[in-house]
Formats: sequence, structure tokens, C-alpha cells
Amino acid sequence: MTDRSPWPEPAVRAADQLRAASGAEPEQVWFAPGRVNLIGEHTDYNEGFVLPLALPFGVGAATRSRDDHLVVVRSGQADGVVEIDVAALDPASEDGRVEGWGGYAAGVAWALREAGHDLVGRSGVDVFLDSDVPSGAGLSSSHALECAVARALLGRAGLEVDATELALLVRTAENDYVGAPTGIMDQMASLHGLDGHALFLDTRSLEVDPVPFDAAAHDLALLVVDTRAPHALVDGEYAERRSSCEAGAHALGVPALRDVTVDDLDDALARIDDEVVRRRVRHVVTEDGRVLEVAALLRSGDLRAVGPLLSASHTSMRDDFEITVPQVDVAAEAAERSGALGARMTGGGFGGCVIALVLRQDVAAVEAGVRAAYDEHGFTEPRTFVVTASAGARRVG
Ligand code: GLA
Repeated sequence: MTDRSPWPEPAVRAADQLRAASGAEPEQVWFAPGRVNLIGEHTDYNEGFVLPLALPFGVGAATRSRDDHLVVVRSGQADGVVEIDVAALDPASEDGRVEGWGGYAAGVAWALREAGHDLVGRSGVDVFLDSDVPSGAGLSSSHALECAVARALLGRAGLEVDATELALLVRTAENDYVGAPTGIMDQMASLHGLDGHALFLDTRSLEVDPVPFDAAAHDLALLVVDTRAPHALVDGEYAERRSSCEAGAHALGVPALRDVTVDDLDDALARIDDEVVRRRVRHVVTEDGRVLEVAALLRSGDLRAVGPLLSASHTSMRDDFEITVPQVDVAAEAAERSGALGARMTGGGFGGCVIALVLRQDVAAVEAGVRAAYDEHGFTEPRTFVVTASAGARRVG
């Protein structure tokens, strides 16, 4: 195999694990990134707008054919070997289910099989995975794993599937096999990611419009604060938000909240009796409006003006959608107080990461400000790092 130096670290490590286990070279090596969402939270399952970007971190997957017809998956981050008999997968039966982290890989194999893709007809496959996406931090580590496995299984079987079609299949895996009622944003970000760009995505048409996001070129940095408050999407809160949004759309007689604009909002709210549903609707409708504004600012090159919209998004998630926790509120407030142009929680909520748009010269001050606030509150020390918009899922070897 050729030059390994430009490979992302997890791809290098996945290939090394395969070599160590089998003494042979990988047939193929793939990489799929995690994401941060710049803005547009809980809008995707309302058929609205989102603006994520793919991270430099992700999941590497190295493959090698086997003599049988199994998919056998190992991960550098977990113990154990997951043996998947693709033909026997069935989310509705106990025997056909794979639990734990292997369930994400099995879900993808199941969704691809259901769509008619023959992954193991010729032979089975060993898949060695390795990740550098912090797990449980709201940076989409599980979607990165699913997208890496999907690309690796298809690639090894010589099958090509368009990125958007694959994102839909990965969502099916997540919704119908894993059982998490997530939307389409994370898979689209991982599969369509583009260096130096955020992805403006219309989740109804599934049209992707990359918009330039090169913070460094504007003397800015996108700082991520991993609050280390663990978040989990499979719990009831995410599903509960989804049903409130559906109740809102139903009360307003529209197919989805995407169909309500900021201009219609006051009239729409007056027609909703339930106070909680009213607040959920207000978040989604104003958030869609903010995504459109941020996308327009990025297109016109006015990155600094994005800051206040990020902060407004945070306030809306805190007060109207009620998906923040004290650690993320403190991080967002402290970042702003220490000089960030704007800050917001990113991802599904109830923990995870905060992003802050910061002048490059202020990064250290903002990091110090957040750490000091955490210390004062007695919270676990946060991790902070600067990220750049990076390329999406790809074959690297
Ligand atoms: C999770 C889901 C996404 C999206 C976000 C909230 O990341 O996977 O589909 O709903 O939460 O914006």
C-alpha cells in the first residue's frame, strides 16, 4: 500500500490492527468523520434547515475478505469481537439483534441488505475499526462509525451508492435497527463533508449546498468545548421533543414545522393551546430562520456577524426547547463573557459540546474563562479544541 502519512490517524490504526491480527495487508481502508453542527438544532426531523460541518476526527475502517460469509467487526475502542450473520439480522427478533456498539455495525449491514445490496455473497469480511471522535460528546461518533462501516462494506463488495442514498440507509439503520429516532443531519454531514465548507442542507429536498467556512482565513477559530456532561439520545427526551414538534405541526395543519416561517410565527403560536408545544414550535421556527441567516452571512463572507446568531440559538435551546444542562449553559455563557463572538450547544442536547466562534487571538482567553467557570461550579474539567471544516467519508487505501 502507498504513502500512509496523509491518512487520518484512526485509518492508520485500523489498518495496523488488521495487520497485527492477520499478518496481511488490508484490502481497503475507509474513513468517515464526525461532525459539529454550526447551527440548526432539532430542525432536521422537522424537514427544516441545518448547517453542519465534518470534523477532522472520525472512524477508520480497514477490511479484509474472509473464507466464510460473516461480517466480523472489531474496534480499537471496545473489547470483543462482533460476529454478524447478515442473512439472520432482524431487529424484530431477539436472535436477529446485536446489542451494544456492534448494533450500529449490524444495523448498517441490515439496512444495506434490506435495500438489496449483497455484502457477503462472494465472501465474508473482517472489519477493523478505530476512532478518535470522543464518544458521548455529541460529535456524532456513532454516525461516523455507521458511515465508515457502510462505506467499507459496500466498497469491499464493489458496490457504489450515492452519498445521499446512503445517508438515508444509515438513518434507517439508526431508526429501525438501533432504535434511535434521529434525523438525517449527521449522516449527511459525514458522507458529504467538504474541506473548508459547512453544508447548508435542506432536509426536505435533501439538497446539499456547501458554503465556505474557513474560519482561519478570517482570523477566527471555531472552538469546541467538550463539557463532558454525558449525553444519550436513545433516552426518551429526544423522542419526546420529536412528538411535541409533530403535535405542533398537527395543530397548525402543516406537514412539518418547516412550513411555518418566522413571519407566520405569531399567528401560528396563537393557534396552539399547549404552552410547551408552543415553545417547542417557537424554537424550531426561529432556528430555521437563523440557519438561513447564517448561511447568507457565510456566503457573503461576513463570518464575524454569525456570532450573535449562535448565541440566540443557544438561548432558544435553553429556554424554548429545554435541551441544555447546567454544564453547557455555563460553558456558553463563560465563552461569551471571555470574548467569544457567540457560543451555542451543538448536537442533540442534554450535555455534549458547546461551540464558540472566537477571534484567533482570543482562543486562549476563552479557554481559560470556561475552565475558570467550571472550576467555580465544581464541574469536571472540560476539554477544548479548535476544529476546521473537513472532508467527508472517503476511501484512503
Ligand atoms: C442528533 C440527531 C440529529 C439531529 C440532532 C439535533 O444529532 O442525530 O439528527 O436531530 O440531534 O439537531
